[in-house]
Amino acid sequence: MTGKMNYQEAHEKLAKYGQEHALKYYEELTGEQQELLLNQIADTDFSVLASVKDKKGSVTKGRITPLAAMQLSEIHAKEAEFRKLGIEAIRQGKVGAVLLAGGMGTRLGSDDPKGMYNIGITKDVYIFQRLIENLLDVVEEAGAWIPLYVMTSDKNHEATTRFLKEHDYFGYQSEYITFFMQEMAPACDYQGKVYLEEKWKLSTSPNGNGGWYSSMHKWGIAAKAMKDGVEWLNVFAVDNVLQRIADPCFVGAVIASGCVAGSKVVRKCAPDEKVGVMCLEDGKPSIVEYYELTEDLMNAKDSNGDPAYNFGVILNYLFRVADLEKIREKNLPLHIVEKKIPYLNESGDAVKPEKPNGYKFEQLVLDMIHELDSCLPFEVERNREFAPIKNATGVDSVESARALCRENGIEL
Ligand code: UTP
Repeated sequence: MTGKMNYQEAHEKLAKYGQEHALKYYEELTGEQQELLLNQIADTDFSVLASVKDKKGSVTKGRITPLAAMQLSEIHAKEAEFRKLGIEAIRQGKVGAVLLAGGMGTRLGSDDPKGMYNIGITKDVYIFQRLIENLLDVVEEAGAWIPLYVMTSDKNHEATTRFLKEHDYFGYQSEYITFFMQEMAPACDYQGKVYLEEKWKLSTSPNGNGGWYSSMHKWGIAAKAMKDGVEWLNVFAVDNVLQRIADPCFVGAVIASGCVAGSKVVRKCAPDEKVGVMCLEDGKPSIVEYYELTEDLMNAKDSNGDPAYNFGVILNYLFRVADLEKIREKNLPLHIVEKKIPYLNESGDAVKPEKPNGYKFEQLVLDMIHELDSCLPFEVERNREFAPIKNATGVDSVESARALCRENGIEL
């Protein structure tokens, strides 16, 4: 095996970014470990670490104006028409689903991939199982399989693929499931110095859910999907156990609207609720995060006198593949996120911190929306479709999701 870089080249690359400490233990490593480290240095983009200095990443907002959502009353009135359109598209193989499961789920506190979490009480009900069962409802209704693409990361690929195989993909036909892995980014301390996870390994973190389409492309999966006739991709998070995937009504509504994308949204329960809301930014669809929402925007009213920024995104988007292709090469903004990062301390001992101790760097799927010409915000009932599991207890937790599952007649 020949390496991608020799010591000298690795040292030069690190020096460019002030990261030479990454070679601190080089002399004590075995030949194999040295090669692993040099290869990782060759593959890593250290330029992201420079953004720690201004702590802002590259996120700036333009002029925010309202974007009207399609609300429940209109959706109910046109439901039959939308469902028909959606089912037709699914039957023709035009709709695929993309499960974003590359995250670390650190807030939940389990070492396993989040989808392996068992929310059952009297029986096993795994998060992956809940999602697949929801998708199977549509497969049954349409009488057609929906290609399911699952994004994992270096940190959880093995465990995820093994688990799903062991459970026979919870009844999904395995030939319709394709796995691919996202990219990683270096994780660093508060000074922007990359951490070491092992003496031969830089600390890395999945680089956010925004790279899903470019990873699908790199793995040759986007090309295969297009060849198979997939025209729409419904991207969804692993943690919402009530979400409807490839929802025919949503798919139909987006197609009928002529928009190139759609986003499921819920009505906010309070003006200051901590969700990103759909809006226009410099005339293009966008999502403004709750911490970017000024007092003025929070209290702004639309022409009907209703709150103008009232619909929060739930990480369930439908994208037209042709338009994803157009934006594939675009650089999305970089978000800097404080995280607990396992690292080696001064004496070279491995530490698993209890509190955040540095930054990871992420691109986000919500930033893709702003690259597109149009996006339909599509309202769904919060209590029926939104039960995210972020934490073990409290808000958006296993407890709150269980209560919502029960409310919807799902046995746990
Ligand atoms: P979250 O924002 O909840 O992030 O992800 P997380 O990293 O998994 O969880 P915490 O913050 O450490 O607790 C929202 C969705 O995006 C996916 C997650 O798996 C989840 O479905 N995601 C997140 C990725 O696929 N890749 C990433 O790099 C980050």
